[in-house]
Amino acid sequence: MRTHEAGALHAEALDVRHAPSWLSVPADVNALHADLWAANVRRDEEGALTVGGVDVHEIATQYGTPAYVVDEADFRARCRAFREGFAGADVSYAGKAFLCLATAQWVAEEGLGLDVCTGGELVVALRAGFPAERISFHGNNKSINEIERALSAGVGRFIVDSDEEIDRLGSAAARHGVRAHVLVRVTVGVEAHTHEYIATAHEDQKFGFSLADGDAADAVRRILDQPSLELVGLHSHIGSQIFDATAFEVSARRIVGLHAAVRDEHGLELPELGLGGGFGIAYTSQDDPAAPDQLGEQLRQIVADECASRGVAVPRLAVEPGRAIAGPSVLTLYEVGTVKPVRLDGGGRRTYVAVDGGMSDNIRPALYGASYSCTLASRSSSAPPMLVRVVGKHCEAGDIVVPDEFLPADVSPGDLLAVPGTGAYCRSMSSNYNHVPRPPVVAVRDGVARVVVRRETEEDLLRLDLP
Ligand code: LLP
Repeated sequence: MRTHEAGALHAEALDVRHAPSWLSVPADVNALHADLWAANVRRDEEGALTVGGVDVHEIATQYGTPAYVVDEADFRARCRAFREGFAGADVSYAGKAFLCLATAQWVAEEGLGLDVCTGGELVVALRAGFPAERISFHGNNKSINEIERALSAGVGRFIVDSDEEIDRLGSAAARHGVRAHVLVRVTVGVEAHTHEYIATAHEDQKFGFSLADGDAADAVRRILDQPSLELVGLHSHIGSQIFDATAFEVSARRIVGLHAAVRDEHGLELPELGLGGGFGIAYTSQDDPAAPDQLGEQLRQIVADECASRGVAVPRLAVEPGRAIAGPSVLTLYEVGTVKPVRLDGGGRRTYVAVDGGMSDNIRPALYGASYSCTLASRSSSAPPMLVRVVGKHCEAGDIVVPDEFLPADVSPGDLLAVPGTGAYCRSMSSNYNHVPRPPVVAVRDGVARVVVRRETEEDLLRLDLP
C-alpha cells in the first residue's frame, strides 16, 4: 500500500469514493455552515462550540450526553420572523414538531397560535397556560374524549377531517351549548416533492376531504346543517419539508377555487383560509430554505391573485409552521464512543463513528432516509477531513445518525459531536428502544443553561412495569 506524503490520516481523508455527489470536501472542516446552525452557535477561540454563550463541555459535564440543546433566543426569533413575515395572517406553531411546557410558553409569549393534534398535545398546551382560544385542534381521528376536552377548554378552532367527526363535534358542541368554530381539511390533490410518508395532499392517503371527488363540498354542506358548528374556513396542508413553491401555488389556487364555490353555492364568504405548514429547513448544505418573509410575500400574492381572478375578497390567511420554527434552533450533543474503519465491497473504506444515542433520539434517518450534518464540537482540529458515517448505539444496522459527513480524521472516543437541525420531530418522535433513556432538553439563553425537559432515569424506564 502506498503511503501518502501527509501520512496515514491524510490518505484516509482523501478516500471520498463513497461520498454522495452533493457532499464536497470542506475547505475548513471546523467551519460552521450558517444555514444549518441556530443563530447563537459559535466556535470559541479554543475551538469548542458554544450555544448562547455556553460551552458545550459545560453542558456535557453538567447535563450529560446525549442532550438536545435549544437556543431559546433563536427559537423565539423564528416565531417572530414568521409573525412578521406573515403580518396580517394568523401564525400557529405546529406543536407536533416539538412541544413541552417551555416551548408552549415561548410560543404563547411570542404571540403565535398553537396547533395540536391529540389530547396529549392539548394537555401540555393547557398545562403551560396556553390561551385556549389561540389553539387549533387538528387530527384525522379525534376521539369523543378529545373533542369533549377541547370544547371544555374553549379551544378556538377545530379542523375537521371526516363525516363522523363533523357529527361527533356537532353533537358534543350542542351538549356544551357552544358553537364550535370549524375549518374543513381539504385534500387538494397536490403531489408535493417530499418523502411519501410526509406528503399529505395527494389523493391516496388518510387526511382530509377530497376536493376532486366533491367530498369537501359535501362536508361544507354537512357542517352548515349543524347549528352548533360555525364554518369559518377551509384548510389544506400539503406535506412537510417542502421547498417547491409551485406546490403551494397549485394548492392555494385549488383551495381558493373551492372557497369561491362555497360563496357561489351558499352565499357565504368564509372569513379564513388555512394553508398549513411544511416549510423546509436546511439539514445539509444541499438544502436552501426560503426566509419567512419571502414565504409570506409569496403566499399572500398567490392567494390575492387567485381571489381577484374569482372575484372574492381575500380571506384571513393562516399558516402552521412546525419544523421551520423548532428545527434549526436545536442541536443534539453526543459523545463519541468508538471509531471503526470498515472495508467496503468494491474497495475503499467507510469510517463508522458511534455516538451514545441514535435512532431512539432521532428516528428520521431510519424512517425517512433523512440526511443530517454534524461537526466536532469539543475542539477544532487541524487534521484533514475524513468521510464518516455517524451511527448510534442501538441494535440495528439502520441506526444511523448522520449518513455522510466529513469530520477531522483524528476524531476519537471522548470527543463531543453536535448535530444541528434536530429541534423538529426528534424529541417528539423519540422512543425508549433498547431501553435507552430519552435525553434531556437543555435551553440556553444569554449565557445561562437550564433543563426544560429532564433526562429519563432508570426508574423512568421501569415506571410502567408492574411487579
Ligand atoms: N399543519 C398540519 C396539519 C400538519 O399535519 C403538519 C405536520 C404541520 C402543520 C407542520 O408541518 P411542518 O411545518 O413541521 O413541516 N415526522 C415528519 C413530519 C410529519 C409532519 C406532520 N404534519 C418528519 O419528521 O419529517
